[in-house]
Amino acid sequence: MFHLDPVRIPQKYPGKKYFKGPKAGQYSCNPLGKNPGDLWVIPNVKSNHVEKTEHPCQFPVELIERLVLSLTNEGDWVLDPFLGTGTTVIAAIRHGRRGAGAETVPKYVELARQRIQQEMQGTLRTRPMDRPVYDPVESGNSLTIAPWEKTPQQATLFEENPPDGRKAAP
Ligand SMILES: C[S@@+](CC[C@H](N)C(=O)[O-])C[C@H]1O[C@@H](n2cnc3c(N)ncnc32)[C@H](O)[C@@H]1O
Repeated sequence: MFHLDPVRIPQKYPGKKYFKGPKAGQYSCNPLGKNPGDLWVIPNVKSNHVEKTEHPCQFPVELIERLVLSLTNEGDWVLDPFLGTGTTVIAAIRHGRRGAGAETVPKYVELARQRIQQEMQGTLRTRPMDRPVYDPVESGNSLTIAPWEKTPQQATLFEENPPDGRKAAP
């Protein structure tokens, strides 16, 4: 069992159409999105992630949401015997499933309890499942350009025949 439709992701070319054959002119992709495939690109929970707690290896909620939606039905039980901060139970509750878990570290049990309560009250902040992954190059982030490529003056330091007549560095 794998429910594909709830976990489809946006097409790269949603406007693409068949250009020949009996379906010519019709859209060639599924309007619900494409299959997420074998490689799931989801940002991990590091320091500036909205979900970050003091747990050192917390999973992003959107990762478990995708598993819950594709592999379970509404009303099912979802068990995570290594619960950590409660991510699995949060994803389960969010999508109409029931959640259970075990955790040996009291500090994490308390964190999980708080986060699950926040989820039930609708106040838990998480990264949305459908938010595209930030691409610094596409976004024009200036840090993606190497400093020595920014000014032509700096580039001449590496040239064999500098245009202003200076001797090239040995
Ligand atoms: C990879 S972390 C899970 C993180 C969790 N998915 C989250 O998003 O917060 C594994 C957790 O399993 C707990 N753990 C380790 N051995 C355990 C055991 N025998 N029974 C229950 N929990 C255990 C650890 O304390 C740790 O919090």
